[in-house]
Amino acid sequence: TQFTNILTSRPEPGVALITLNRPKALNALSSPLMNELSQALKEFDSDPQIGAIVVTGSEKAFAAGADIKEMKDKQFADVIKENWLGNWSDMTRIQKPIIAAVSGFALGGGCELAMMCDIILASPTAKFGQPEIELGIIPAGGATQRLTHAIGKSRAMEIILTGRHFSAQEAEKWGLISRVVGDGEGVVVKEAVEIAKTIAGKGQIAVQTAKETVNAAYELSLAEGLRLERRLFHGLFATQDQKEGMAAFTEKRKAVFTHL
Ligand code: HXC
Repeated sequence: TQFTNILTSRPEPGVALITLNRPKALNALSSPLMNELSQALKEFDSDPQIGAIVVTGSEKAFAAGADIKEMKDKQFADVIKENWLGNWSDMTRIQKPIIAAVSGFALGGGCELAMMCDIILASPTAKFGQPEIELGIIPAGGATQRLTHAIGKSRAMEIILTGRHFSAQEAEKWGLISRVVGDGEGVVVKEAVEIAKTIAGKGQIAVQTAKETVNAAYELSLAEGLRLERRLFHGLFATQDQKEGMAAFTEKRKAVFTHL
């Protein structure tokens, strides 16, 4: 598919890379961009050659938020009738792991987009924030829930109520991101692609099951989550990948997963 607001590539076997590409607007997440992102994610999700997906922006901006110029004149009747931004949650229905490689600004919807990914890596220059309060609105791409789960109520309240930016180092210390990587241009993307390549080398059924189970920790009670975990674990004994993985261990060789 031909896209105009994003770039797509396959930098390594099994790895898809999606680059947000509206440089003049610091990758503001317009509706056309979000539609293309959704479509690209769905295409890679159903592509058997792909095992993991990296989403990145530019050195200056991962994404500076939803497109303010597109939003500014909208009326209540418009946004409610078209369930505006409803397609933002498409990303959470992708089965394959998604890694966000964040450099520069990840503000508003940009920060929320990163939080919908499964792993976030950031360069030391990354700047996160939920500045919606400055615009007379609240975050609506998930931050009131996901940021609060990730960093705790007091910090989430401070960030959302003041609108202040926070650094990659703070994000790491608070547990929002998995780590700060590198100090040069492109390093964070390279590292994200490496992680994606590692994941793409595993059995896809186990990887997707692991993703589903970890995500359930945000939605289910402990007892329900543990039950789901145990049942999905049992189900993996119906796969060839489980037989292959355990045979390879006992035969002291590397497993070759067939995703069956
Ligand atoms: C539309 C944007 C934009 C945005 C930047 N631009 N952010 N356009 N929507 N969110 C545009 C600017 O208008 C400008 O275009 C160009 O990008 C460069 O931006 P500058 O402001 O000149 O750059 P700089 O001085 O370096 O400042 C960078 C910045 C600032 C700190 C990131 O641009 C900024 O504060 N942006 C808005 C961040 C924000 O409020 N995000 C939350 C949006 S609400 P022109 O053509 O004028 O030169 C949101 C709701 C999510 O995300 C809920 C839905 C899920």
